[in-house]
Amino acid sequence: MRIALIGFGGVGRAFVKLLHDKREFLAAQGLYINLNYVINSSGGVYNPSGIDCKDLLNFTEKGQRLCEYPGGGNRDINLQRLISNKDVDVLVEVTPTNKETGEPGLTHIVKALENKIHVVTANKGPILLAYRKLNNLAVRNNVQLCAGCTTGGALPSINAGIFDLAGSSILSIEGILNGTTNFILEEMEKNSIAYSDALKKAQQMGIAETDPALDVEGWDTAVKLLILTNILMVQDKTLDDIQVEGITGVKPEYIAEAKKEDKALKLIGKAARTKEGVELKVSLEKIDRTHPLYGVNGTNKAVRYVSDTLGDLTVMGGASGTTPAAASLLRDILNLHRGYRFSV
Ligand code: HSE
Repeated sequence: MRIALIGFGGVGRAFVKLLHDKREFLAAQGLYINLNYVINSSGGVYNPSGIDCKDLLNFTEKGQRLCEYPGGGNRDINLQRLISNKDVDVLVEVTPTNKETGEPGLTHIVKALENKIHVVTANKGPILLAYRKLNNLAVRNNVQLCAGCTTGGALPSINAGIFDLAGSSILSIEGILNGTTNFILEEMEKNSIAYSDALKKAQQMGIAETDPALDVEGWDTAVKLLILTNILMVQDKTLDDIQVEGITGVKPEYIAEAKKEDKALKLIGKAARTKEGVELKVSLEKIDRTHPLYGVNGTNKAVRYVSDTLGDLTVMGGASGTTPAAASLLRDILNLHRGYRFSV
């Protein structure tokens, strides 16, 4: 399988490392990966025989740019070049997300699908803004669009819905979908540390968004909930359709009060079918021990689906981090190799 990676930040680098670390494991499953391209805004690296992942990581670790890499680095390596060369089966798209325009990821994904290249992405913006259009494009071109990483990385969420809830109608989706805020709330509760110190810790761990306002103001949760709702409940909701609350106003007293009542304070996204249609919100809630999301600790996340025929199911875990996010991209790639159909 010939793979191109576009985007070389934390998740992109972790993905390249996994390709190196897991090469024997993957080969044992009949999956031989050739990483032909790694591209970012400085240009890229192209090697039709496969880039040496370890060597590239060592080179760029010292702060040197991709385009300077002796094993095929060049300023002129870009998506257009990749498309003209016709030597890629899968594009892994992990450029920074933009929830307003979806760019540059949206254009990358459209071009790849139009040229019959499968896409595996961690990029939430394009999936939020254009999933249906992109999915249809994938179907028309007989390729797959895999977006499992966009709604919680390692947490099985979209794909659990697509594959394991197939045939049922989803009545509600409820989740703790952001590891940063869950971690901050727990740090404030367990270690009695201030909100700003807990946020700093999350940033040091590399799990917060580049702009942490997206996490703490609830937007990351809102985007993930919208993606899940639009794909699994077949809706066309936008950020204008959701009430969003974050955790920026949380005071230690609120947390102490919840603790006294034997409850946990959690940032929860919820979409539910009502007579008026699907209603969505992200809000800070005090939940008790009987709630399925009560035990979601640290940077873990969870999603609960209530369906008509397959019942009430909660998937929990999937701690946020660059390696689990990269591993969720690899999971989609392996399932693609096994013949799973993500786009129907
Ligand atoms: N910032 C996100 C989180 C990780 O804390 O869960 C990427 O979705």
